Amino acid sequence: MSLDVAVVGATGAVGETIVRVLEERNVPIERLTPFASRERTAAVTFRGRSLDVRATSGPALQGFDVVFFAGGEDASEAYAPALVERGTVVIDNSATYRLHDGVPLVLPEVNAETVRLDHRLFPVANCTAIILCTVLAPIRDTAGLHAVRVATYQAASGAGRAGLEEFLEDERALVLGLPEPEASAFPQRLARNVVPQVGAFDESGYTGEERKVREETRKMLGLPKLDVSVTGVRVPVCTAHSEAVWFETGRKSSLEELAQAFEKAPGIAFHAGGIVTPRDVEGTDLVHVARLRAERETSRGDTFALWCVGDQLRKGAATNAVQILELLIARGFVGD
Ligand SMILES: NC(=O)c1ccc[n+]([C@@H]2O[C@H](COP(=O)([O-])OP(=O)(O)OC[C@H]3O[C@@H](n4cnc5c(N)ncnc54)[C@H](OP(=O)(O)O)[C@@H]3O)[C@@H](O)[C@H]2O)c1
Repeated sequence: MSLDVAVVGATGAVGETIVRVLEERNVPIERLTPFASRERTAAVTFRGRSLDVRATSGPALQGFDVVFFAGGEDASEAYAPALVERGTVVIDNSATYRLHDGVPLVLPEVNAETVRLDHRLFPVANCTAIILCTVLAPIRDTAGLHAVRVATYQAASGAGRAGLEEFLEDERALVLGLPEPEASAFPQRLARNVVPQVGAFDESGYTGEERKVREETRKMLGLPKLDVSVTGVRVPVCTAHSEAVWFETGRKSSLEELAQAFEKAPGIAFHAGGIVTPRDVEGTDLVHVARLRAERETSRGDTFALWCVGDQLRKGAATNAVQILELLIARGFVGD
């Protein structure tokens, strides 16, 4: 089997990473066609060949077995429904369809069983939620999960190529004493700063990012009433999101029991001692867990705290998207 695959948004931070991960993992692809908002010549490299980028349109996206979307909400909203209708497999990194009923939100290590033969639309969850759920799933399975509090430390590239470029330009200006650029990808300038706002605020004071993490975490873990509170913070880091997580188990547990669960869990590197930082994990696919510690007993279970880090462009987006395709291939749900 060899697939005809399109990547919409192939010139962006996530799309470029999808192309790289498809090549690295040797996914059986006959032809890969990159798309973006406009045409470019020889702008994407796949298996050593420079490929022209095509302008995205409904007609141009017809006829592919699989279309990855990494082009923002607009592109997914405009083109995904017609493709799904025609039987194309759509793997979508935007937030558009993640919470729709009947649409699985697949984190292959955690809920692969939610994929059915008749599904064609596969949203990829929010990057912060993917990292969090990879870590919470073994806790849920070992000791139950009652409540989660998380503070995030999110990298500049989480705001796409423009976010990363703005942060690097801001840093350069500070070092060289140049006029400082206006913040546009972030609410405030990010260099030598910490910005406690990721996304727009709603009337309750939470941001869109915080709501996504809460709702998508509940959906991926199959715990619709899980007590989740998130504070999303942008930090001056290029790539990889970190999260400080506090959680309450549903029954009694221990550090030993949880450490064993993390050691065995797919997709996790557990560090029994020491620390792990974004720069340690950039460019890799595992979610790293460190600083596991016990807090106190409660009437239900126990509370614990940990630190986790994952490359949000890879496991938080592109690698998870490619793993979904690999899952469909393994089950015989895509291709001839
Ligand atoms: N960055 C992350 O860490 C991350 C993580 C998880 C999910 N996501 C999601 O992934 C998607 C892509 O994010 P990104 O960070 O990669 O953004 P990005 O770096 O800004 O890249 C956006 C890409 O989409 C293309 N594009 C924009 N509008 C389009 C349209 N109407 N039709 C077709 N292509 C269009 C752009 O093409 P041009 O180059 O021609 O403008 C570019 O290739 C977003 O939905 C984002 O929320 C991002």
